[in-house]
Amino acid sequence: METTFAMLKPDCIERKLTGKVIDFILEHDFEIQRLKKLHLSTRQAESFYFMHKGKDFYEPLIKFMTSGPVIPMVISRKDAIEKFREVIGKTDPEKAASGTLREMYATDIRHNVVHGADSPENATREIAFFFPKIDLIK
Ligand code: RTP
Ligand code: MG
Repeated sequence: METTFAMLKPDCIERKLTGKVIDFILEHDFEIQRLKKLHLSTRQAESFYFMHKGKDFYEPLIKFMTSGPVIPMVISRKDAIEKFREVIGKTDPEKAASGTLREMYATDIRHNVVHGADSPENATREIAFFFPKIDLIK
């Protein structure tokens, strides 16, 4: 079993896709270990997406991620990191494979419903960002 970090973005919640996306995650054999709902502050969103600072989509990304609540979650299954990236699909829904979350639900490259950690290092960092150690004690 491997653990990764996923987050339902504000468009997912606004468009009432939360149930469908959670069903999809469970149907793909992920177990939800932790889940919560919160509204990111600008400072938190900037810190979470620090690696994109300076890129042309950075300001709109911060605006979007603070436009409504998000649902961060810790999920696990075999090869969770690679598998979750696979089933969410490419950033741009036009390029996302058929049957992926973004192909099915994303509006465009900037409003793409869900985030998934892209490496073990980032999964660890992102889980720690949203779920302090005390919350992870079983
Ligand atoms: P994420 O981090 O949210 O899982 O998405 P990702 O790895 O597929 O894409 P990444 O390159 O990390 O970009 C983070 C988020 O920024 C927005 N974005 N807009 N060209 C654009 O307009 C553009 N590129 C990226 C998307 O919301 C993307 O998910
Ligand atoms: Mg990314």
